[in-house]
Amino acid sequence: MAELVTVILAAGKGTRMKSSLPKVLHKVCGKEMVRCVLDAATAAGSKRNIVVVGFGADEVRAALGGAAEVVVQEQQLGTGHAVLQAEPLLRDAKGTVMVLCGDTPLLTVGLLKKLYDEHEKAGAKATVLTAIMPDATGYGRVIRTAAGDVEKIVEHKDATEQEREVREVNAGIYCFEKEALFSALAEVGCDNAQGEYYLPDVLSILRGRGEKIWAVAADDYEETLGVNSRVHLAQAERILRRRKNLELMESGVTLMDPDSTFVDADVAVGRDTVIYPFTWLEGRTSVGEGCTLGPSSRFTDVKIGDGVTAHFVYAHECEIGDGATMGPFVHIRPDSHISKDVKIGNFVEVKNSNVGEGSKLPHLQYIGDCDMGAGVNMGCGTITVNYDGKTKFRTKIGDHAFVGCNSNLVAPVSVGDNAYVAAGSTITKDVPPDELAVARARQKNIPNWPDKRK
Ligand code: UD1
Ligand code: CA
Repeated sequence: MAELVTVILAAGKGTRMKSSLPKVLHKVCGKEMVRCVLDAATAAGSKRNIVVVGFGADEVRAALGGAAEVVVQEQQLGTGHAVLQAEPLLRDAKGTVMVLCGDTPLLTVGLLKKLYDEHEKAGAKATVLTAIMPDATGYGRVIRTAAGDVEKIVEHKDATEQEREVREVNAGIYCFEKEALFSALAEVGCDNAQGEYYLPDVLSILRGRGEKIWAVAADDYEETLGVNSRVHLAQAERILRRRKNLELMESGVTLMDPDSTFVDADVAVGRDTVIYPFTWLEGRTSVGEGCTLGPSSRFTDVKIGDGVTAHFVYAHECEIGDGATMGPFVHIRPDSHISKDVKIGNFVEVKNSNVGEGSKLPHLQYIGDCDMGAGVNMGCGTITVNYDGKTKFRTKIGDHAFVGCNSNLVAPVSVGDNAYVAAGSTITKDVPPDELAVARARQKNIPNWPDKRK
């Protein structure tokens, strides 16, 4: 069998989105719609993927990051015209071309496989995926003959009152025999309500030639929802989120309230992790086993180990080791590496720092640009003074150092292994290992003060 090639249409502006961002770059569950479609095609066995870009071509190309071949449709003259742009790239291709729209992010791998398998089995020149929509407004309607064969697809704007009653719609997803597709596209005109070259017209052209055209009905219309507006976007988001949450629960993750748990499409979560409400796991985040996350926490691009506890935490672009406990009210900023069994308590901010195994930051710390060893104890209110108004400097804290409450470590500075810093010190010189640094004014007590005051 020749290899499956997929063409994804993603050149449209998406006028109805009322956005400066190309429609297909709007995200559902943290992933650009066009990437959702592309990933589904790839997972369904498509060996070559060509994305037709146009409006915001550079942005779309950048978002694809080399994951697909790209061809530009300079003017958006319709879906049929868009597919034609891929023809030069398909000169040597043989067999089946699958065409998908970049605005149908809910497609599943199973559905695409079913479409492809049934197309091959039927030996049709064209197979269209259809769905019964509760509200078919805006979609192309599937018009069937009395015998039940697909006769044509009529766009909403071109449809008669009677045709608009039809709830079976074109999902905008097809398989074509390549030669038949391009020979029919050459005949597609633009004499319609939108003055566009409609891809679905290929079906009636082929039918007119006596060729076999076929339809596959999706069992679940939700998989075929096309996103044309922000309202559709929110619907798609809700459906994908529900699907993702179901997947997590089926794989052994406890969600205290799935309706208020927000996990992006590509996030992995290990077994026996428990997620409390209002928790967001975003982007390239991964979570190990047996963690307790949330409530009210947000993790963006964070690698979380096993057995981590975090509540009321915002962490982004960082790593959190096994057994760490954090929260409430903690902010872990980019390029931070929190090691195994670290304890971070309330009102702590960590930025661009390494915190060694078992170290404790229990309350009210600012740790920025710091390399901290293992078993360090940071007293309440300790601060790394990392910025002189011009340049950032690093602080180094050795293993098992003990930094007393309300100390400032003015970087660049180091505190050696097993060293102590007295509470209330402002440290401006390195503290050698095993030494105690006291850097505060000596206390003087003045007797009989009330009398002296008078
Ligand atoms: C299209 C179908 C309609 C179907 C619906 C399913 C046509 C004419 N209509 O309508 O039958 O029910 O999808 O969701 O095909 N695009 C381009 N270049 C263009 C125009 C569009 O690349 O010149 C891309 C868009 O970026 C989008 C996709 O094609 O990803 C579909 O275009 P859109 O305008 O959303 O078509 P619909 O009106 O939804
Ligand atoms: Ca659409």
